[in-house]
Amino acid sequence: MLAIIGGSGLGSLRGEIRGLEVETIETIRTPYGGPAQVDICRKDASRIAFLPRHAAGDRVPAHKVNYRANIWALHSLGVSRIIATNTVGGISDDLPPGAMALPEQLIDYSWGRETSFFDSEDQPPRHIDFTWPYDLSLREALAGAAARVDKNIKFGGVYGVLQGPRLETAAEIQRLRRDGCHMVGMTGMPEAVLARELEIPYACLALSVNWAAGLGEGPINMKDIKRVHGFGTVELIGILEACIEIQDGRNVSRGSKPASFPPILESIPEEARHGERSGPEFPSPDDQDSGTRRCADRDSAAWDRFGQ
Ligand code: HPA
Repeated sequence: MLAIIGGSGLGSLRGEIRGLEVETIETIRTPYGGPAQVDICRKDASRIAFLPRHAAGDRVPAHKVNYRANIWALHSLGVSRIIATNTVGGISDDLPPGAMALPEQLIDYSWGRETSFFDSEDQPPRHIDFTWPYDLSLREALAGAAARVDKNIKFGGVYGVLQGPRLETAAEIQRLRRDGCHMVGMTGMPEAVLARELEIPYACLALSVNWAAGLGEGPINMKDIKRVHGFGTVELIGILEACIEIQDGRNVSRGSKPASFPPILESIPEEARHGERSGPEFPSPDDQDSGTRRCADRDSAAWDRFGQ
């Protein structure tokens, strides 16, 4: 089942997508707290789980979201892929308010959040591969959906995840630009890595609602953000609707290829870019030796730094 995590202002799909009905509302308690509330929806032959990231009424701010409970709840429902919607500020000239992107990479500047399921005696630490945080097939399915509804979308880019709730200073945005970020938001992590830990393919559909600090005219203003968010969300829902119809990308008939940011690491072949996930790339507790060997083959220095 496909899951959609709705960002700010997208609290439900009910009444938003033609022919979509909410069949049940699941209230899921998790070992990590919660409860997380998930709408199980049906549209034609598809079932979709919808989870509002900030809970009903957007009452939980980005830095207080219980990301572990949310992802665990989706996993417990047997979700097989996740599309997350996130509002961002545009840093790249290509991401003015109203533009959308399917980022390829992220840099995590957030702090103090619970970033792993593997941090207890029962679940000892694991060092998962996160080279390519977003799932390429899902990103392609979303690009196909955007083409179907004639929405230009940037295929690629680096999402800088900041702590919030305040917006950034102009100097922080200049630093992010120097670091290679194309957009800035507050909710991209640890959601993406938690999905990876549970091996759920995950992609981010980012909507720019403002120029990042210091790049527009004057201070960032909530009135303008709300206006852009209003029409942007209508387009974003159009893409989600097309994506549900296309299903998991198997029937994607692509219109024009979306414009791309230059890949972050040009030397890496496209096939390698979403990480081979035919199985866990990290050692399980009773498979430390073979896991160590696999990683050692690849990058013994990095593995040494983990002290394994
Ligand atoms: N900064 C951080 N998060 C955001 C922004 C921003 O400018 N816009 C929307 N989410």
